[in-house]
Amino acid sequence: MPKLMIALDVLNREEALKIVNEVKDYIDAVKVGYPLVLSSGLEIVEEIKKICNREVICDFKVADIPETNRKIAEIALKYADGIIVHGFVGEDSVKAVQEVAKKFNKKVIMVTEMSHPGAIQYMQPIANKLAKMAKKLKVDAIVAPSTRPERLKEIKDIAKLPVMTPGVGYQGGKIEEIINILDENDYVIVGRSIYQSENPKDVAKKFKEKLNKNKTK
Ligand code: C5P
Repeated sequence: MPKLMIALDVLNREEALKIVNEVKDYIDAVKVGYPLVLSSGLEIVEEIKKICNREVICDFKVADIPETNRKIAEIALKYADGIIVHGFVGEDSVKAVQEVAKKFNKKVIMVTEMSHPGAIQYMQPIANKLAKMAKKLKVDAIVAPSTRPERLKEIKDIAKLPVMTPGVGYQGGKIEEIINILDENDYVIVGRSIYQSENPKDVAKKFKEKLNKNKTK
């Protein structure tokens, strides 16, 4: 069964920790990004881990020259278990992050195609090439969209790597439509549908149950 990762894009520390505490029994991993880290500091990663003892990934979509990427990774991976980077900046920029991750024994996750409509404009035309590059570089996982199951499948087939897939729930992606593409090494990322709901615990539980039951193969 694929893992459930919450995208914790809330804007303050107290709310973030409250949600983690509520959903901790139903999630396998937590993704933090700029909204939370810029408002609460990177130390929030340690606080989250203390509450739920789950993998925490920094979604910084790092996209700079190798030397700057390296500096960002050195800071983030002191705290987090993995970091999300962009692939379109080229192999050297991704490799710089991989070198740091290796030192800390942490993960590098590379974006291929994003889940929002605008990704069709510039990212989709190069996403299959990025998936090939991810395979060549042996990154730990890739990011590909749940909002376009056929693209998720194509990208996963090319990269042959674990996938972290956002877009379920608020952006319109449905577990039923992607479950047969995924396996136990993959992660389904859900943000707003959980943290904006009246009862995050119940919603997380429902997503977890759907991930468990829905396989039709
Ligand atoms: O709230 P929602 O469930 O749409 O959250 C999706 C999360 O996944 C957000 O944190 C967003 O930044 C992230 N993401 C995405 N598409 C990508 C990579 C990351 O939606 N390709």
